[in-house]
Amino acid sequence: MTVLLDAAERMSRDGLEALQLERLRATLRHAYENVAHYREAFDRAGLRPEDCRSLADLARFPFTTKADLRDNYPFGMFAVPESEVRRLHASSGTTGRPTVVGYTERDLDTWADVVARSIRAAGGRPGHKIHVAYGYGLFTGGLGAHYGAERLGCTVIPASGGMTARQVRLIQDFRPDVIMVTPSYMLTILDEFERQGVDPRTTSLKTGIFGAEPWTGEMRREIEERFGIDAVDIYGLSEVMGPGVAQECVETKDGLHIWEDHFYPEVVDPVSGEVLPDGEEGELVFTSLTKEAMPVIRYRTRDLSRLLPGTARVFRRMEKVTGRSDDLVILRGVNLFPTQIEEIVLRIPGVSPHFQLRLTREGRLDVLTVRAEARPGATPEQRTAAAASVAAAVKDGIGVSVGVEILDPETLERSVGKFRRIVDERG
Ligand code: DLL
Repeated sequence: MTVLLDAAERMSRDGLEALQLERLRATLRHAYENVAHYREAFDRAGLRPEDCRSLADLARFPFTTKADLRDNYPFGMFAVPESEVRRLHASSGTTGRPTVVGYTERDLDTWADVVARSIRAAGGRPGHKIHVAYGYGLFTGGLGAHYGAERLGCTVIPASGGMTARQVRLIQDFRPDVIMVTPSYMLTILDEFERQGVDPRTTSLKTGIFGAEPWTGEMRREIEERFGIDAVDIYGLSEVMGPGVAQECVETKDGLHIWEDHFYPEVVDPVSGEVLPDGEEGELVFTSLTKEAMPVIRYRTRDLSRLLPGTARVFRRMEKVTGRSDDLVILRGVNLFPTQIEEIVLRIPGVSPHFQLRLTREGRLDVLTVRAEARPGATPEQRTAAAASVAAAVKDGIGVSVGVEILDPETLERSVGKFRRIVDERG
């Protein structure tokens, strides 16, 4: 496939860094002058926007957290008058108030551009039909994907999430080239194809652009194999923009290129907050470089990853997100992420990719049970062997004992959007 690049994607690294510094200084000024929270935070740190003379100087500025956004609910972080805000989105979060984000007309334009660039990097082209099964609404997935696909010149099928039988019918009747959906919901759609007796490899789909939740290379292989498509990763978060902060290129599939002309990344030690050199794993932190309605300065994402040099593009890459620091399970002193279990489950024959982790307490001990469905047709002997293999592989690979239950196919709850892997019943 011919690789198509826009002007920013053809910049030199030096040119890019000069542009980043100019945009960063303007963003710091915009935030300081128009948002009380930033003015107070910079003043407390004894800093003025002009003190940022190099990209490295950004590390001297204070972080912004989800709590800051909640404390300023709903519009306190906005840097423009409310009448200039063209769209609101919100993420529901697990506790308390939602986080609200706003976009000016120019922000919406930038967002459509970066999503269009993402779809093109994934292999989408003008004239393609794109089935969007991310949820539409306050969640940024559906509308973010939608306007990006239109910007690229594609035909959008705004299916949104849910009504899985209808998703299958639309895919068969409208013949999309590309699907954009969470990887867990793609598995639900896969089941529905099989339930209807339709071979998922016979669809018109060529490419899937999956994100909004962590997923592994093993899951990529499963989806690519069963649908006969290319599966690539898209990353983003509402506080920074929505989908389209970073995208994996189909020609390399080697992690996600961060659209660094709009979003400046850092990786920090999650405990000390110290900036880590590229290549080291830590928490991703983003500073917006062009946002008007809601600039974010050093926003702590809680997502764990590493920064790597660019390959297919000039921009640096982020490694596939391992998990959120909030999803870290500490089991008898051993740290574990659901993605580590996903890698193991998908390697064991007889076990399907539908699994959930249940945390319970026995006395003072936390107990983790991997509950995974058998593949259809697996015999009782194969299921017993699979349970033993999962337990042994977790013990070997992660160093902790877990319980394993192999369930009948179609017994676990199915995802229609972002999937909750961990069910915490510790009370
Ligand atoms: O999930 C935006 C999005 C929509 C991204 C559709 C990609 C596709 P939020 O609801 O604010 O926004 O959730 C953001 O989701 O901090 C990560 O923890 C997680 N996340 C998003 N993309 C990925 C990914 C959207 N590709 C939170 N891999 C982020 C792993 C992801 N985690």
